[in-house]
Amino acid sequence: MHSPASSTLYVLCSALFIHAALTTAVDPLHAVCSTSKNYTSHGAFSNSLHQMMFLLATKAAPIGFALGSVGHGDSRVNGLALCRGDVRSSACAACIRSAGARVRDLCPRNNEAIIWFDECMLRYSDTEFFGDVDYDHSFSLFDPRNTFNTGNVSDAKAFYGKVEFLLERLKNKTYISPLLFANQELEIGESRNLYGVAQCTKDISGGDCKKCLEAAINKLRCCCRARRGGRVVGGSCNMRYQLYPFLDDA
Ligand SMILES: *[C@@H]1O[C@H](CO)[C@@H](O)[C@H](O)[C@H]1NC(C)=O
Ligand SMILES: *[C@@H]1O[C@H](CO)[C@@H](O)[C@H](O)[C@H]1NC(C)=O
Ligand SMILES: *[C@@H]1O[C@H](CO)[C@@H](O)[C@H](O)[C@H]1NC(C)=O
Repeated sequence: MHSPASSTLYVLCSALFIHAALTTAVDPLHAVCSTSKNYTSHGAFSNSLHQMMFLLATKAAPIGFALGSVGHGDSRVNGLALCRGDVRSSACAACIRSAGARVRDLCPRNNEAIIWFDECMLRYSDTEFFGDVDYDHSFSLFDPRNTFNTGNVSDAKAFYGKVEFLLERLKNKTYISPLLFANQELEIGESRNLYGVAQCTKDISGGDCKKCLEAAINKLRCCCRARRGGRVVGGSCNMRYQLYPFLDDA
């Protein structure tokens, strides 16, 4: 018999994992195309989508975040763009522009899609989603080579204890920050540092950001306990830890 706790863990841990090592910086980390509804390629929805992507890249550049809605009735589309908090405005706009082009390639007729890159994410839908925490699109990524292969479980356990401390501190810092973005370093001995970063989309409240990051921490515990690095990307928040610095200004 499974205890309730272990069956919960099973459900959480059965989520999709993606092998981050298979992508490069310019490839998307992941994309999801919803197939529940499709649009025609030259219709009004397609026009709205095109305009909205242009709008998002322009609006997001100075502040790293944008919401936008274009069109009316059946052709109305809602979009959200988020750049990683440390990314400069020109790189942010470029990332969103290429996310827009890639998502239209990958999801050519879908009324709803989401795509993640290292430096930005883009989401659009024919339904209103602003302000709601997205728990549906959430994925773990890790480098499959970056495991503990010493066979020393107590080592891995002690390491992950430090990771959890870092992630907790990061969560505490992120959800009260005005930008809903924070990074954090932690010295873990042997002159090694752990580096972490977390971010929420700015359409959700600080309290919802906290909940989103708590879910991300649970997910990381599932995918990445035996790993030296891992990340979770989602529609409303993302979180990452690694043994090397990865921010532009770090
Ligand atoms: C939309 O298109 C995809 C593939 O292009 C297809 O699998 C899906 O069934 C379509 N959805 C609807 C609602 O027509
Ligand atoms: C396992 O890790 C512990 C704690 O770092 C260390 O004391 C021990 O020597 C390691 N054992 C092996 C077999 O490597
Ligand atoms: C995070 O915040 C909670 C609540 O204020 C506090 O109990 C906890 O010690 C903090 N954790 C870290 C690692 O800073």
